[in-house]
Amino acid sequence: MSNKRLRKAKIWFFSSTLLLIFLLFFISGCAPAKPRAIEIKAVSPGEYDPEVWGKTYPLEYQSWLETKNPRPSGLSKYKKGWDEDKVIYDKLSEFPFMALLYKGWGFGIEYNEPRGHFYMLKDQLEIDPSRVKAGGVCLTCKSPYAGKLEKELGKEYYSMPYLEAVKKIPQKHQELGVACIDCHDSSTMKLKAARWTVEKAVKDLGKTRFSRQEMRSLVCAQCHVTYVIPKSPEMKSTGVFFPWQKSKWGDISIENIIKTIKSDPTYLEWKQEVTGFKLGYIRHPEFEFFSRGSVHWKAGLSCSDCHMPYKIVEGAKISDHNIMSPLKNGLVACKFCHIESTDKLKEQVLIIQDRTMSLFLRAGYQTAAVAKLFQLVHTEQAKGKNFDQSLYDQAKEYYEQAFYRVVYIGAENSVGFHNPTEAGRILGDAIAFAGKAEGLLRQLLTKGGVEVPAEIQLELKKYLNNRGEKKLNFRPEQEFKDPFNLQEEFGLKK
Ligand code: HEC
Ligand code: HEC
Ligand code: HEC
Ligand code: HEC
Repeated sequence: MSNKRLRKAKIWFFSSTLLLIFLLFFISGCAPAKPRAIEIKAVSPGEYDPEVWGKTYPLEYQSWLETKNPRPSGLSKYKKGWDEDKVIYDKLSEFPFMALLYKGWGFGIEYNEPRGHFYMLKDQLEIDPSRVKAGGVCLTCKSPYAGKLEKELGKEYYSMPYLEAVKKIPQKHQELGVACIDCHDSSTMKLKAARWTVEKAVKDLGKTRFSRQEMRSLVCAQCHVTYVIPKSPEMKSTGVFFPWQKSKWGDISIENIIKTIKSDPTYLEWKQEVTGFKLGYIRHPEFEFFSRGSVHWKAGLSCSDCHMPYKIVEGAKISDHNIMSPLKNGLVACKFCHIESTDKLKEQVLIIQDRTMSLFLRAGYQTAAVAKLFQLVHTEQAKGKNFDQSLYDQAKEYYEQAFYRVVYIGAENSVGFHNPTEAGRILGDAIAFAGKAEGLLRQLLTKGGVEVPAEIQLELKKYLNNRGEKKLNFRPEQEFKDPFNLQEEFGLKK
């Protein structure tokens, strides 16, 4: 072959291979091989065991199992995480005013930051027994067997001792938390939210049909919502429901929740020790808070968009079932929509959370101060003093309004991020109500001839160190840092 012909052949060879590569690229959408979609197959009907589901869907099962992995600390500012050495964050040490306000029941003894889904029942079994005093009903948002128990045992389910109820669960699953069957229909794999509590609650909202996107939030709303456990006169649990009766889908307000709680004395689940008032309680209202007109809700997002982003595993596209704080996995979910860098996004989250925290601390300490003033009033009453009843009633109403708002934001798990403007509104109102209550109580006491100190001593160490059965110790390493100098400003000394 001549040199010339060889060169020609080489050029021909190279350009045709190049063309072929180009063509291949073009056909495959100019991208590396497209991830494969998961093929949907039925799982045996009513199957509780995730391991069995895992035989059909090994990738989702694997990622679901990862909820047992530690969440390293240092990634999220306020949701501290936990490491191998099992340090679980103690909310009461960080927010001592909670120890004061919640004294009188379980939350005032032990109140931890949440851990992964894998641990929900384990954590409940390990927590101070006072937290599960309500009985079997505590399993409602923990065990996939809750619905079965409720059906089989009827009313007895709610009030039977907690550990007795746990024993009714098949042994293998006595520590099993949220399982595949809680969120999926076993034959179609379609999302479902079949707990009786949420079924009833959405009916109360007047809502019967749900889009796929709405279902991607509703499955979480089985548990990440507030609820009421009505009590019999003997303080036995008689049921469980979501206080949504006066609300609409996308508009479940704190005002309506408070109205429902206050509408029936059987909804007042505990007695606050400092004031002696019977009160209700608000738990983790993520769904209510997020869905009340937040920017992301209005943009059509669901909980799963941020907490279960798609990921590619072994060439397949799956929803990440290792549900956790987006700050703890590099904010990957946000990047499906936002073009900012991880650092920028993180900064935006922290700005929102810092502002919420500043208002929250202000509201919390001020509400605690009002509780101490009520204590003073009651001590004086016990000594025979009489006070203006109408001032007292008005102050009590304002105090409760402030109290429920502080509990609401304190229990909501995003530190304001899920709905920043709503957090500002609720805490602003809490501060105003607490301020009004304090003013009225000062007036009432002065009128009754009792001198009120300018600085109200909260005696927080006392509430932290005497927490009942477990005698948890105040953790100095978690001592409240007072980043906003509130203690000085309010004269709130520990
Ligand atoms: C069956 C009830 C239940 C369902 C359904 C549920 N959760 Fe949870 N979730 C919990 C409980 C309980 C915890 C706290 C567990 C603990 O601390 O032991 C938790 C914890 C979390 C955490 C913190 C995890 C961590 O590692 O720190 C996130 C985030 C979360 N859930 C989001 C969601 C989202 C999003 C959905 C819907 C896709 C959902 N959850 C569905 C009950 C549930
Ligand atoms: C726009 C994204 C987004 C949406 C939508 C969203 N979240 Fe979150 N969520 C976050 C961020 C950011 C945090 C703050 C995490 C942190 O501070 O570490 C958070 C925190 C949480 C936490 C606490 C996590 C922890 O580690 O303790 C829970 C639980 C939670 N969200 C549940 C939900 C539920 C339930 C919904 C739907 C009702 C929802 N989220 C909707 C972004 C989102
Ligand atoms: C807390 C609720 C929840 C639990 C528990 C849960 N899933 Fe899912 N799962 C979802 C959501 C939300 C999606 C997204 C569905 C959609 O977008 O329509 C999903 C999607 C899926 C899909 C469709 C493909 C994909 O990955 O998007 C499969 C298969 C699946 N899950 C299997 C499982 C298995 C197996 C388990 C138990 C090991 C499980 N899921 C537990 C909420 C859950
Ligand atoms: C499915 C798309 C989508 C995802 C995922 C998403 N966002 Fe957004 N986000 C939006 C849209 C749309 C807006 C409204 C933008 C506007 O109106 O300019 C928004 C607004 C915001 C805002 C400003 C509004 C506010 O509430 O203060 C912040 C901050 C934000 N997103 C952060 C995040 C973070 C952090 C994540 C991940 C945890 C995230 N977003 C996930 C679509 C998304």
